[in-house]
Amino acid sequence: MTILDGKKTSDTIKDEIANRVSSMVDKGERVPHLAAVLVGSDGASLTYVNAKVKACKRVGFNSTLIELPENTSETDLLKKIDDLNANEAIDGFIVQLPLPKQIDEQKVLLAVHPDKDVDGFHPTNVGKMVLSLPTFLPATPYGIIELLERYKVETSGKNVVVLGRSHIVGRPISILMSQKRAAGNATVTVAHSQSKNLINITKQADIIVAAIGISEFLTGDMVKEDVVIIDVGITRVSDPSKKSGFRLAGDVHYESVSKKASFITPVPGGVGPMTIAMLLKNTLLARERRNNM
Ligand code: GUN
Repeated sequence: MTILDGKKTSDTIKDEIANRVSSMVDKGERVPHLAAVLVGSDGASLTYVNAKVKACKRVGFNSTLIELPENTSETDLLKKIDDLNANEAIDGFIVQLPLPKQIDEQKVLLAVHPDKDVDGFHPTNVGKMVLSLPTFLPATPYGIIELLERYKVETSGKNVVVLGRSHIVGRPISILMSQKRAAGNATVTVAHSQSKNLINITKQADIIVAAIGISEFLTGDMVKEDVVIIDVGITRVSDPSKKSGFRLAGDVHYESVSKKASFITPVPGGVGPMTIAMLLKNTLLARERRNNM
């Protein structure tokens, strides 16, 4: 069994990006600049955004963190987005999700200029992704593709089962892996909360992408021998034996599934660090594209 080490792979990608940035600096060029908008003080979102800002520093990008209060109005957030769209110094930006309930997420995603949409969430960029046109791929699916590619996991002609149909992970990874592309050419099934006889579906899978947000949902009895496991979930589960009182768990019951798997991503240290590395890659792409305009 091989661990798909997202931490190590993301470090390699960050080194590659840092080298690009160094040569930009040597040539006297402006370095990429990512901005992140965080509305409210959700603990997990704050952790993720801080990790993104830290990663920018590591590779030599400029970064700006914009923290807005929980009660920010939709109008004020849309105004902030307009400012970032117009700001020549910012190459790309993200609005961390989820947003407080007074704000319509769809309106926010539509307001981000597609050329600065390094999350790849704008309908224009989603459309380009579906049509296999060059665009910003959403960071988590992009990270999964990159991890499979770098570990040379064969996907062509394989049965892939995606658990979950979210706009951020399940839907896009199902599209990407069915396309004629690296880490693609697979026969993809999307299973979700209304799927019947799930075990019959997962037992057929050569590769499973678990992205349903239910901790330790996928158990050893649900998978076949030599399955490849990509675990996107990350939730806190209480664990009195830990000083913090909790541990991080994925959507996969690691102990039982890893006994049967040929490849598996750990949690933490699997998909999470890859997501951040691919956001940096998209920001570098945004910077390079502006250079050509
Ligand atoms: N919330 C969970 N994942 C993501 C992500 O990839 N981007 C943003 N903006 N918010 C998220």
